[in-house]
Amino acid sequence: MKISVIGTGYVGLIQSVGLSKLGFEVTGIDIDERKIKKLNSGISTLHEEQLEEELKLFINENLKFTSSYESVYDSDIVFLCVGTPQDDFGNADLKFLYSAVESLKKYIGDKYKTVVIKSTVPVGTCRKIKKILKDYPVEVISNPEFLREGIAFKDFFEPERIVLGFENPENIESTKLLKRVYSHFEKKGVPFVISSWETSELIKYASNAFLATKISFINEISKFSDIVGADIKTVGEAMGMDDRIGPKFLNAGIGYGGSCFPKDVKALAKQFESFELESKLINATESINQTQNIWFFENKIKKYYGDVSGKTFAVLGLAFKPFTDDLRESKAIELINILLKNGAIVKGFDYIEKARENTINKYALSDSKSLGYSLHILDELNDALFNVDGIIVATEYDFDKEDWSEIKNLVNNPVIFDGKNVMDSKTLKSLGYTYFGIGKN
Ligand code: UDX
Repeated sequence: MKISVIGTGYVGLIQSVGLSKLGFEVTGIDIDERKIKKLNSGISTLHEEQLEEELKLFINENLKFTSSYESVYDSDIVFLCVGTPQDDFGNADLKFLYSAVESLKKYIGDKYKTVVIKSTVPVGTCRKIKKILKDYPVEVISNPEFLREGIAFKDFFEPERIVLGFENPENIESTKLLKRVYSHFEKKGVPFVISSWETSELIKYASNAFLATKISFINEISKFSDIVGADIKTVGEAMGMDDRIGPKFLNAGIGYGGSCFPKDVKALAKQFESFELESKLINATESINQTQNIWFFENKIKKYYGDVSGKTFAVLGLAFKPFTDDLRESKAIELINILLKNGAIVKGFDYIEKARENTINKYALSDSKSLGYSLHILDELNDALFNVDGIIVATEYDFDKEDWSEIKNLVNNPVIFDGKNVMDSKTLKSLGYTYFGIGKN
C-alpha cells in the first residue's frame, strides 16, 4: 500500500515515520525545500524523543520526502497533516489545508483514493472538502490525532483510541482500508471509534477543551486554596483517586501552553459563536488561562519584592513543556515577557539545547546589543542561577533532582517561585529557601 503524507510538522512527520516503521511505503510532502533536504539526509526538523533514530532507519528505504505532489498519483491513501493555526480572531485558519487540497487535485488521476484529514479542523470541514473534491474519485475520512509533544512517537504506537469519521459510517466497505492501515493497533486491542465526520471532528476539539478545562479548573481552585491555606497538590491527588475524575491534568500552575490547547479552545469557542451559541465554560477555561500567569506574578513574585525592577531572576524552563523545543504559547516565555516589562533582568535556562536556541532566535539575542531589556539564555543551569535574586520554575521538569543545597551557595537570595508546583517544598524550606507555590506552601 502506498501512502502520501502532506505536511511534515509534528503530526505529519510522526505519521510518516510511524507508518514507514509499520512497513508502508511512505512519501512525506512539504512545500519547505529546506525541511525536505534535512529530512532526506536523516536529520529531524523537530526535537522529539526517538524521532531522529527512527527516521534514519527508514529514510531512503520505504520513506522519502519531497516538495512535489507527484507521489499522490500512485498513492492509495493521502494523509493531510498541515497546520491549522489561529487567525487574528481566534478561528482555525484553514488556508494551508485548502491550498493542499487544491494542490492535490492535479494528481488524483483515475485511481480511487482515500483522503484522510488528520489536521485539527472545525466541525463541518470534511464535508466542505468532499464538496471541493466532488468531481474526483476520492473518499474523505476524518482521523484526528492525539499525540503529545515530547512523547509523540510513543503515543503513535500506543494510542488509547483511533477515531475515524466517515461520510457514511454504516458503509463497512469504506472503513476497511483505514482498518488495514491501522491493523497493527487493532491486533493490539486498541479501540476504534467509527463515527460520522462531524462526530469525529468534534471528538478532537472536545477532548482538548476538556483537558484544558481540567487545568483551568484546578488553577481556579488553587487561588482559593492559597487564601484558605489548603494544599492544592493534595486536593488534586485526592480528587484524582475518584475514578470518575482521574488523576491527570489536575496539576495547578501558571497555565497551559503549546500548539494545541490554546488555539483549539479558542477555535471551539469561535465555532459555538458561528452558530450563535454561547460557550460559557470554554470561554471561562480560556480566560482563566490568560490571566493565570499575571496572577502568579502579582500575587507571588511582586508581592514578595514590591518592585522587581533591577532584580535578577533565573527562569527555569523555556519551552511550553518538558522535553520539547517548542516555544509556541509557552507560559515560561509569557512570564519572561512580564518580568522584562517590569524592568527585571532574566536569566533563562532549559535542559533542551534547541529550546535555548529557539529562545535566542525568538528575541534575536545574538544580533542586537541594544534590545532595551536584559535577557540572557544560559547553557548551564548553574550559570543561570548564579547571583540571582529569585528562582522561578516555569516548566514541569524534575528540577528536584538538582543539588539545591549547593545551589543555595550560588544565588543571591534563596527564594523559589514554583510556577508548576513540582518542587519538594519541605526539603527546600529545610535547606533555608523561601518557597512560594501555587495554591500551596
Ligand atoms: C495536547 C494533548 O494532550 C494532545 O492529546 C493533543 O494531541 C495536542 O495537545 P501537548 O500540547 O503536547 O498535547 O501538551 P500536554 O502534555 O497535553 O500539555 C499541555 C499544556 O498543559 C502544557 O503547557 C502543560 O504544562 C500544561 N499542563 C498539563 C498543566 O498546566 N497542568 C497539568 O496538569 C497538565
